[in-house]
Amino acid sequence: MPGMKISGIGMCVPERVVTNHELEPLLNTSDEWIQQRTGIVERRWVPEGVELSDLALTATQEALEAAKVKAEDIDMIIFATLSPEMCFPGTGVMLQAKLGIKNTPALDVRNQCSGFLYGLAVANGMICSGMYKRILLVGAEIQSRGILKIPQGRDTTVIFADGAGAVVLEQSEGPEGLIDIYLGADGRHAEELCAPGMGSRWEGFVTQQMLDEKSHHPYMNGRTVFKYAVTRMPKTIQLICERNEIAISDIDVLIPHQANLRINEMVAKTLGLEDKAFNNIEKYGNTTAATLPICIYEALQQEFLKPGHLLALTAFGSGFTWGSALIRM
Ligand code: UT7
Repeated sequence: MPGMKISGIGMCVPERVVTNHELEPLLNTSDEWIQQRTGIVERRWVPEGVELSDLALTATQEALEAAKVKAEDIDMIIFATLSPEMCFPGTGVMLQAKLGIKNTPALDVRNQCSGFLYGLAVANGMICSGMYKRILLVGAEIQSRGILKIPQGRDTTVIFADGAGAVVLEQSEGPEGLIDIYLGADGRHAEELCAPGMGSRWEGFVTQQMLDEKSHHPYMNGRTVFKYAVTRMPKTIQLICERNEIAISDIDVLIPHQANLRINEMVAKTLGLEDKAFNNIEKYGNTTAATLPICIYEALQQEFLKPGHLLALTAFGSGFTWGSALIRM
């Protein structure tokens, strides 16, 4: 059976930088609190008029160019996001239209911070089975329009941000490519990190009470999420290494989801990979499904991650959902 490798990668973040200082008067927060508790210094927010599929398109065009392929060469689009342009249809079809390609199937993945890993697993199944040769996987978010820019939302508003990352995935016959991927979910915790509106639980998808109380915006029980994230991420890396008979010390680069630098430092310490961990949360905050491809892109650009390296990816978030992957670059 063939394997699956990343043959091109691209990213896009809006130009507008929003510093912690800019949030201070809106959120009753402080640069000091945000930096100490999360590691975030600034993040990017889109200007008016920019759509999610625009960010995705820019990232995709760079990924296609890097892979030396055209949009027409893509057999399938997988689009991971928690901030789709509309309730339905998914944003994958909007990207497909902007790419100017017809008939290419487009699938939206709704797995929040783990969306990129879930998308990677779906793509792997399709590519390794021979169903498709080349898949475009995009992780993209515009969170800045959904977060609550008043003190009530300060715990989530300081974290979530905008961005997009895209990879072209292709069949691989050589040593490089995905070695293994582990996925997990526990729906008992669905309401610990969620955006209750818009949803079919409510007549009209959103109630007047929700609008008045602004409870349709993201809600997070930060301490609970934190507690699960710091245990699940290292545990799944250990598990995936064990079942592939790979020593954790053989990992060259660890890229964890970027939700909180304190979480990532604890994950890296548990695994003994402090010097091998790559983070960019200070610049971009938590771009959810876009985080992992943006990190891979920047780690490659900075030559922290190089061809031949063993890369470990791990993520945890809303659902709860989580996962880890091992990739030979
Ligand atoms: O991406 C999906 C996965 N998400 C995560 O992994 C996020 C996990 N959780 C976290 O990162 C952290 O829980 C937060 C950064 C969200 C919060 O940090 P924390 O250290 O867990 O703070 P806390 O929720 O325990 O709150 C401590 C205090 C509270 O005040 P009191 O009750 O002690 O008076 C909060 O009201 O900090 C307050 N607080 C803030 N203060 C200033 C919460 N958010 C803010 C804020 N600025 N932005």
